[in-house]
Amino acid sequence: PKRIFSGIQPTGIPHLGNYLGALRQWVKLQNEAKASTTLLFSIVDLHAITVRQDASTLFQMRKQMLASLLAVGLDPSKSILFCQSAVLQHAELMWMLSCNASVGYLSRMTQWKSKLNLRPNASPFDAPPSSNSREALKLGLFSYPVLQAADILLYNTTHVPVGEDQSQHVEFTRELATGFNHAFGDLLVPPQTILSPAKRVMSLKQPHKKMSKSAVNEGSRILISDTQEVVEEKIKVAVTDSVQGDITYEPKMRPGVANLINIAFYMDESGMQQRGLASPEQLAQTMQHLAFQDWKPAIADIIGKSLAPIRERYMDIMERDRQEQYLGKVQKDGASRAKAIAEPNLRRIKNAMGMGSFD
Ligand code: TYM
Repeated sequence: PKRIFSGIQPTGIPHLGNYLGALRQWVKLQNEAKASTTLLFSIVDLHAITVRQDASTLFQMRKQMLASLLAVGLDPSKSILFCQSAVLQHAELMWMLSCNASVGYLSRMTQWKSKLNLRPNASPFDAPPSSNSREALKLGLFSYPVLQAADILLYNTTHVPVGEDQSQHVEFTRELATGFNHAFGDLLVPPQTILSPAKRVMSLKQPHKKMSKSAVNEGSRILISDTQEVVEEKIKVAVTDSVQGDITYEPKMRPGVANLINIAFYMDESGMQQRGLASPEQLAQTMQHLAFQDWKPAIADIIGKSLAPIRERYMDIMERDRQEQYLGKVQKDGASRAKAIAEPNLRRIKNAMGMGSFD
């Protein structure tokens, strides 16, 4: 049977990179799953604290993320939704994997290397700029991929749906599982990656960079709770290019234009299907002769309309939470279901390593 696991950092309300690269795929997998498939989706707060977090903000963002997962269509009766820190086995398995993870491999990981070089325009939560930057980087940030591997391997996950920026971490997880199995027997399942069609959504301000939560400029991303007006404004000032003439789909030559077309296409895939449009290129063709001042509102309209029901559900969920502590219930229930899978798996792993109980 299939077992699907993925995680998202508690960054508050997700942006369209998270949504198109991951969340929408999660919902699709959930809705198309056979009865024998288990789906687990975790808010990875232990990963979030690898950079400094303000405690009350983090608390708030964990709730906002859970509400967002529900708002996009994840259903707690079909998927197990929980906070990583509520299932202690993640941290415990991480230690065992740490003792089998090579420092060399970890130091070659892209995310770590980018932190090493990122000093001048680092986020305010990173190491203080005045200190010796390398020395100040935290151990948890270095071992981040080991915790991610623990998340995945703890549940015998077969499939991990993520955006492209996470595929290196899943590859690392596979290597770690294979190495571990070689030493201790066939216990861990090397997982496969599932990439969504919109695997890399770009920044609205710097279309050669991915859309991200950590970019300083809020205009570089659209949140799933943005209203039609906010979406219009952000699209209006999105960076495109000064090419005269037709709208064309050329991701290499015109990354800003291609990014907006991609976003619009993937936001409303069913609408596109109804219009007989099978690819972003075909959507671009229908817009070919629009002037920029007409084209951008057309893009914003597709995005805004697709977000409206999500935003409404988000408000409803928050209201329900105020009335009956709904999010707390969903989290608790998810965590106990996750634990029921994690516990026996971890016990087997400990037994195999010589840490079984004496009785
Ligand atoms: P995170 O929280 O940065 O992102 C969550 C998901 O969103 C995807 N994503 C994007 N996809 C396309 N375009 C973008 N611009 C974009 N930005 C983000 C990410 O690929 C991801 O799928 N380390 C992970 C969280 C994690 C995890 C796990 C994932 C922890 N443990 C186990 C899978 C399995 C992360 O920081 O994702």
